[in-house]
Amino acid sequence: MSETNAVSSSIFDASEHETRLRSKAKGSLARGERARRTLAGGVSSGLRRTARPFPLYFERGSGARLWDVDGNEYVDYMLGWGPLILGHAPEPVSRAVAEHLHLGHTFGAQHDLEFEVSELLARLIPCADSVAYANSGTEIVQVALRLARAYTSRPRYLKFEGHYHGWDDSVLVSYHPSEQELRQFGDKAVPAGLGQRPGAAPIVAQWNDRESVERAFEEHGEEIAAVICEPLLCNSGCIPPDSGFLEFLREITRRTGTLLIFDEVITGFRLALGGAQQHYGVTPDLATYAKAVGAGLPLSVLAGRAEYMEMIASGKVVHAGTLNGNPLVLAAAKAALETLAADGGAVYRKMWQLGDRLRDGVLSRLRAACVPVVATGGGPVFQLLFQTNTPRTYRDTLAADRALYGDFAVGMLDEGITLLQDGRWYLSTAHDEREVEDTLSAVDRLLR
Ligand SMILES: Cc1ncc(COP(=O)(O)O)c(C=O)c1O
Repeated sequence: MSETNAVSSSIFDASEHETRLRSKAKGSLARGERARRTLAGGVSSGLRRTARPFPLYFERGSGARLWDVDGNEYVDYMLGWGPLILGHAPEPVSRAVAEHLHLGHTFGAQHDLEFEVSELLARLIPCADSVAYANSGTEIVQVALRLARAYTSRPRYLKFEGHYHGWDDSVLVSYHPSEQELRQFGDKAVPAGLGQRPGAAPIVAQWNDRESVERAFEEHGEEIAAVICEPLLCNSGCIPPDSGFLEFLREITRRTGTLLIFDEVITGFRLALGGAQQHYGVTPDLATYAKAVGAGLPLSVLAGRAEYMEMIASGKVVHAGTLNGNPLVLAAAKAALETLAADGGAVYRKMWQLGDRLRDGVLSRLRAACVPVVATGGGPVFQLLFQTNTPRTYRDTLAADRALYGDFAVGMLDEGITLLQDGRWYLSTAHDEREVEDTLSAVDRLLR
């Protein structure tokens, strides 16, 4: 965080809100203590450990709202970190899963939903001739990279600083390096934690920086099997590609015989029915999906052109998984995709309008209170950064006053609004004018 951009954290009195949350969420506090005795860190994914002021325990979610174990109600903009594109417990998905529950949970063998969902996906995803299933985004990215290595007979790949592609050793580098780590590692890949294999580190370039990509190809071109990116950099500031940047990646990968992989784990079925590739009009060779495609159940998808997917179809590239394509998650996906595709994807127009209105409403209120803030992204996923310059790369986001945003998020939680601590806001089709009004009123109360 740059000192120049750190403003007084007294704007949001986090300690007062924390005290109130401690008294009204006692059930969560007690459960946290109990969980930490036998569950590492008391949480099921490391990123949840640092929730401020403490991890809440939830009992129920419905539409755009959540209820914690103490009966407190929240408008939810975390949405399970992205999957809940239709909100909590959407009726068509719940019904489809319930119908399949008594028919068997997994077969480890074939059933009709497998091709019914693959047919839908091939119709909706621009780069998809065919697809392959797995359970998480982390897994499916590994399949995509393996396929690219096999197809090109090259060992490495290029990723961008700040982009997240799951927690496997091979990709969890240069994700959120600190300023000190950047000084220490220079342009080399920075591991995110201890114990990661140093071996197959990728080549790291800067988002929206053509020169850094060209340099990587000049120095390592013969080794690069694929370029992978989040086409909208959702994991580090919701930073869109500069005009022409995705086209540039498309061109340089084509020219060098390298595969272009869009990691659409967040953008897929969120920015548009056809994901970022439809939104930005650039078609990659392969694309990976998780989160929204399962609407809350664990499904991930690799989509690609037939000539690449043939390597999986023929078994030359191994793709396996006991629970891949189980009927419960595919029933959920089928119901979710059909719901999203109804009326030509009309729900996306609503999400974009509502999300932009919400973003602009929060932004103008914060600015009126002299908080230095910029917004990136829009509609179904946007970000507020407490800094003065709009970021174009991950490094630009290091100027953000994260502590102050954390204070804001704690205050909003006390006012009945759940936000991710990093400044990202997710919208679902279940959010409506009422949620936007409730949220803007909460901001007004907080700033008063
Ligand atoms: C862009 C992107 N790729 C991959 C992943 C990994 O997905 P999962 O958490 O399902 O393993 C994530 C998770 O947040 C993601 O945002």
